[in-house]
Amino acid sequence: MDESGASASGPPDAATIARWRAELARAARVCVLTGAGMSAESGIPTFRDAMSGLWSRFDPAELASEAGFRANPARVWDWYAERRAGVRRAQPNAGHLALADFAARRPGVLTLVTQNVDDLHQRAGQVDAIWLHGDIGADRWLDRCPRRAPCDPSRAAPGRPPRCADCGNLVRPGVVWFGEMLPDGALDAAERAAAACELMLVVGTSGAVWPAAGLASIARDAGARVLIVNPQASEIDAVAHAVLRGTAAVVLPALLRR
Ligand code: OAD
Repeated sequence: MDESGASASGPPDAATIARWRAELARAARVCVLTGAGMSAESGIPTFRDAMSGLWSRFDPAELASEAGFRANPARVWDWYAERRAGVRRAQPNAGHLALADFAARRPGVLTLVTQNVDDLHQRAGQVDAIWLHGDIGADRWLDRCPRRAPCDPSRAAPGRPPRCADCGNLVRPGVVWFGEMLPDGALDAAERAAAACELMLVVGTSGAVWPAAGLASIARDAGARVLIVNPQASEIDAVAHAVLRGTAAVVLPALLRR
């Protein structure tokens, strides 16, 4: 719904873009939440898109849970190795670049919160992004290392997965799996940014995974304007003042350009 109470969801026309551009230019604090759709035009598959989403082809219980990893570490390790290679091959798209450019032009205004485990925001030049779901490029131990000075997973003996030469502890990817806590401090920082912003921009998320999906409501309840960019309906559209039905690499440059 927009401020007049009318629904504003459709392909963005020039006037709508101009209005939101002006709001973004005025806002002293902007919080951006990104999801897998942000990186779709860089060639990284989303999770829940009907044909191409990873969870339409793979079972998250098998590939994105601690129990799944313990049941078949080699299979899960290989799956992440393939995804890591896909991320390394990918390049930031025009949407990542537009966000990083906006942040650099207006220091201190934008807080970027991402559910993505790729590093495309960072490679686009974004500093200080809050990674809610971890980093697919990072390694960590499956079990807590019992040593006073913990062993370094990057020195583990090679294997699928690598393992500690002393105790056999396995290396796992540094992503958050279903049922796990978010990285220390990340959710707090994200919730503070959502509560403090004047405008919340939500890009490319289905809004199906909590607590990330709750950030838009936190912002709205605190009085922020909420704008969603997504070519499809999401579970949090009703929270937004407007939904722009377009893709990240097309809509963000138009919204954020100088
Ligand atoms: P989803 O796959 O659930 O949703 C992707 C969203 O992006 C959908 O709403 C699409 O319509 C939209 N989309 C697709 N292409 C787009 C484009 N070019 N531009 C803009 N939007 C586009 O992904 P997330 O919402 O990020 O968890 O999923 C949340 C979490 O679920 C992920 O972080 C992941 C997954 O399990 C972990 O890795 C822990």
